[in-house]
Amino acid sequence: MSVPDRSANTVSEVRKGLEGVIAGDTAISDVDGANCRLIYRGYDIGELAGNASYEEVSYLLLFGSLPTQAQLGNWAAQLEPSRAIEPPILKLLDQLPKEASSMGILRTIISALGLYAPDSDERTLPELRQQAIRTIAQTPAIVAAIGRLQNGQRPLAPKPGLSHAANFLYMLHGAEPTPEQAQALDTYFVLLAEHGFNASTFTARIVTGTRSDYYSAISAAIGSLKGPLHGAANRKAMEMLLEIGEHEQVDSYVQKTLADHRRFMGFGHRVYKGEDPRAKHLKALAHRLGQTAGDLRWFAISERLQTAVWNAKQLYINVDFYSASLLHYLEIPTALFTAMFACARMAGWSAHVLEQMADNRLIRPLARYTGPRDLRFVPIERRVAQSAAS
Ligand code: COA
Repeated sequence: MSVPDRSANTVSEVRKGLEGVIAGDTAISDVDGANCRLIYRGYDIGELAGNASYEEVSYLLLFGSLPTQAQLGNWAAQLEPSRAIEPPILKLLDQLPKEASSMGILRTIISALGLYAPDSDERTLPELRQQAIRTIAQTPAIVAAIGRLQNGQRPLAPKPGLSHAANFLYMLHGAEPTPEQAQALDTYFVLLAEHGFNASTFTARIVTGTRSDYYSAISAAIGSLKGPLHGAANRKAMEMLLEIGEHEQVDSYVQKTLADHRRFMGFGHRVYKGEDPRAKHLKALAHRLGQTAGDLRWFAISERLQTAVWNAKQLYINVDFYSASLLHYLEIPTALFTAMFACARMAGWSAHVLEQMADNRLIRPLARYTGPRDLRFVPIERRVAQSAAS
């Protein structure tokens, strides 16, 4: 029997951070960096923002086409009963340390969802879809409960008849949002629902590639989103605005950040060569919410910072920059910001788990070894310490 020669398939060039590497096919979205466009299943994000609800877009991502009225009704009827937090999950939420990070709690709870699901190791497409419905529906309730528990309040049950976005705001604040607030959060969820092979989605696909389960893939994705170079940039961007405090302080903040060689959070992107196509929609929403609230302070600081960072470093804003003031105007605590991103991205992650499982091959790149070779074993009593660790 002949042995296949796999060395012919080896690419010897190393691209740090996998920059520019195409790691697989997807029909879910196209992140077109050169033209600064984002496309969900054929629709430019500008077509969907403000026109389609998160319910419609999550259906689009999972099933491949926008739903008809009947399909949307059926989809909403599946999401609605899954929205309430299940009793063992609520009990666990109560036991976790309140001072822990929201994303750490969310990662733990999504992992626990898999422990309380009889089908958690099932990987057929219909079962994965059921797991996705349960998780997409329940995540906003879990995030709202984390916020309330951290604020010394009891979690609230979802209200039947409210949309995905309106229900989140109701469960967090205990009062129904205005139509403008619900619409703003709905559009935020739509804009952040999906984004190609970003770090967290790629994490979910790697876990799925081993034929592990849905909940392992999603909790690993949450762990990846938690990092400040990815999802936590929205929280860091808000902390930056709060630190600046007044728009007159923007220029000195920029000078100090440059002098300290620190990064401006919510600026820069690996793929987009110009402005992130989601940013202008988020900016318009933040502006509108600020106007309605009669408080344009955070918007004004953001706008001035956008200009100052451009002048100083020619960096474009990304999705997280105006997400910060938008979520702040919705009175969402800064500590919950990255978990809000996770609520939105749940649809995209789920679609990628389904797509990966439908045409799976283990994801296993190579590494170029840079360490020593041919060392000889030295018995412990004759070894000399070579590293600082004691
Ligand atoms: N602030 C200051 N400088 C930045 C910057 C930022 N936000 N983003 C990139 N740069 C600079 C880097 O310092 C680097 O400069 P150098 O070559 O002189 O060292 C150069 O631009 C390239 O940065 P690099 O980190 O290699 O780019 P990347 O493609 O790996 O990183 C991000 C992309 C998003 C991680 C990066 O832009 C960043 O850290 N942004 C802030 C965090 C953020 O907003 N994340 C959310 C992304 S949607």
